Amino acid sequence: NNRNSDSRGALIVLEGLDRSGKSSQSSRMMSYLEGLGVSAELWRFPDRSTCVGQMISSYLANKSDLDDHTIHLLFSANRWEKRSLMETKLRTGTTLIVDRYSYSGVAFSSAKGLDIEWCKAPEMGLLAPDLVVYLNIPPEKAAERGGYGGERYEQLDFQRKVAHHYQVLRDPSWKIIDASLPIEDVEKPLRDMVLDCVKTCKKGKTLLNLWS
Ligand code: TYD
Ligand code: MG
Repeated sequence: NNRNSDSRGALIVLEGLDRSGKSSQSSRMMSYLEGLGVSAELWRFPDRSTCVGQMISSYLANKSDLDDHTIHLLFSANRWEKRSLMETKLRTGTTLIVDRYSYSGVAFSSAKGLDIEWCKAPEMGLLAPDLVVYLNIPPEKAAERGGYGGERYEQLDFQRKVAHHYQVLRDPSWKIIDASLPIEDVEKPLRDMVLDCVKTCKKGKTLLNLWS
């Protein structure tokens, strides 16, 4: 398949609060792209399959306690350990739909009171997404959905702070979708955004690093 050698895949990131619908939308997006014959993979952070990911998982399950800075750096390390594979995939034509990325890292840690610039620093040099879609939902509404899983951070008062910090972080290039709408009404605009981005990247859009 030599189409892959001269066009790259798109790095597409979905962000939002817990229960905003990122996981459902990203898996529906995968079926859609597959149907269109677009080469794509679904990734998510944290990637709990690695050693670092297991430390994160145990922290989130309240099975271990870590200093706020330490867990922040582990989340970042978990992205760094996937960076080179990510670049290879993109350069060989695979689009990546990524459920959470550096913006989660910064929004969640700064919501605990850590300095935002300090939080951003370890993310510098990771690949910059071609598209960031924020699934926007009021924290109260997200909390009403099927209940949280009981992990650390899955509490209404904390999610309110996270929502605020996402707003601080958000830049004009982000696409915002009202995630309190029915699933199909979220999916439709998302599909258009994703296809448009895939097309732009195929034409040779430059792959950049964060934060740019
Ligand atoms: P989440 O995507 O919600 O996993 P799951 O769908 O299995 O619940 O991620 C787990 C939590 O980790 C979530 O509350 C957000 C938080 N998080 C950070 O604090 N920093 C990060 O860098 C990332 C990627 C996630
Ligand atoms: Mg969660």
